[in-house]
Amino acid sequence: MSPALRPRRTTAPTTIPGALPLIGHGIALARRRLQFLQAARKYGPLVRVRIGPTTAYLINDHKLLHQVLVTDAARFPRGIHFRKIQAVAGNGIITTCGAPHRRQRKLVLPAFNHTRVKMYGDVMHEIASRRIATWPQDTPIDLKSEFIQLATTVGTRCLFSSELGESAVRVVERALPVLTRQVHLRAMDPTGLLEMLPAPGRHRFNKAMTELNSTIQQIITDYRKNGKEKADLLTMLMAATDEDTGHGMDDQQLRDEVVSILLASAETTALTLSWACYELGRAPETQRRLQKEADSMLADRASIPENLDQLDLTRRITKETLRLYPPTYFLSRTAAQDTELGGYRLPEGSIVLYSFYSQHRDPSLFRHPARFDPDRWLPGREDDVTSAAYMPFGEGIHRCVGEGFAYAETMTTLALIAGLWDLQPVSDQPVRPIADLTLVPDGLRMTVCRRKR
Ligand code: HEM
Repeated sequence: MSPALRPRRTTAPTTIPGALPLIGHGIALARRRLQFLQAARKYGPLVRVRIGPTTAYLINDHKLLHQVLVTDAARFPRGIHFRKIQAVAGNGIITTCGAPHRRQRKLVLPAFNHTRVKMYGDVMHEIASRRIATWPQDTPIDLKSEFIQLATTVGTRCLFSSELGESAVRVVERALPVLTRQVHLRAMDPTGLLEMLPAPGRHRFNKAMTELNSTIQQIITDYRKNGKEKADLLTMLMAATDEDTGHGMDDQQLRDEVVSILLASAETTALTLSWACYELGRAPETQRRLQKEADSMLADRASIPENLDQLDLTRRITKETLRLYPPTYFLSRTAAQDTELGGYRLPEGSIVLYSFYSQHRDPSLFRHPARFDPDRWLPGREDDVTSAAYMPFGEGIHRCVGEGFAYAETMTTLALIAGLWDLQPVSDQPVRPIADLTLVPDGLRMTVCRRKR
């Protein structure tokens, strides 16, 4: 018997109390997901959760999670969440597993290397500074919508720098929210019925897909015809060739990667910016320090994207925001075969769940976990346990390829905001995170007041 199959314990992991007949923990997961995930920690490193007729396994231990995502990743491929979004993202890097994923990842990674991300920095800077300058003074702003539009424009222009890319921004702005909504609905629908029934919004979804696909195809055709290299992501994707076959991506694969990148990038970055502004509004002293850091760079007229390394506090604020509010806070894998985890036997097909939100708020891993404290990441204060348990970008073979891109965009935007505006909360009431597919600030509105210098 292979070690993968050899059970060390005969008992099953504890089932979290409170499961109801038929629906199990469905209501708690739907209505109080974040509280449920955090409360689950006390029942052990691996616990059972009942979702309707299905038993899933929830990991509450960062070492076990490391095993699933890194050491034994081949035995735990992506879960149903991901398969369900294939209708939107096709066979792009965010939905595939195994050999096809490995091949695509190799082709996509060079587009996100350090030098390339620096190059996209100018686009980020230009778009963010233009947009932020038009914010209305003293009028509550819906920051999440604002940042979604900003990140959508940045993502689209970094993908397509050509003139056609300019008009593509409008199409992507219209289509992406519709596709993102579908991704949320499909991934959160445990029954799979949504894919079969004529759901409301189906027409809008088909229209958005058709419009987006034809725009992407038009741009790909234009790039192939012109053959001129541009400093953008699409050029990088088109230049990538498989080292075994020597072939590049065909149009369909390019389309799937473009949509994958748009889906993976815009919302996650926009949410990070929203939560960072929210916390800065509640921490005037930290905001003042951030402004000082931004001022010193802006006074020297230094390029922000070129000098991100000097923005220590801006980086720590971004890092701390991603600890408290990891946008992709709840993910899954599936056991590819009968296997063993944490000493328990998991049957083939078992759904394995994990939550960065819960892990990042575990008091045994992070001191005062609910406190927004960017300085916890100062050199010397971070220890081995916190570094190992901090994983907002995932781990292992599916670790986010856009981490550098996301940091560059978030830090550039935060520095530009800090240079121009004071952020003020509209209300003293804490903003609740809505646990949808991502972690959304419920009704976050803030005012901005032009800084006097
Ligand atoms: C703060 C922002 C972001 C966060 C928190 C984030 C988080 C993540 C996480 C947790 C994963 C792993 C999913 C898994 O394990 O299955 C992932 C994968 C991915 N992310 Fe990000 N992401 C962010 C921004 C971006 C950006 C800006 C891009 C591109 C421009 C991007 C592109 C991708 C891609 C392509 C993958 C799939 C990688 C693979 O499966 O090999 N992400 N991201």
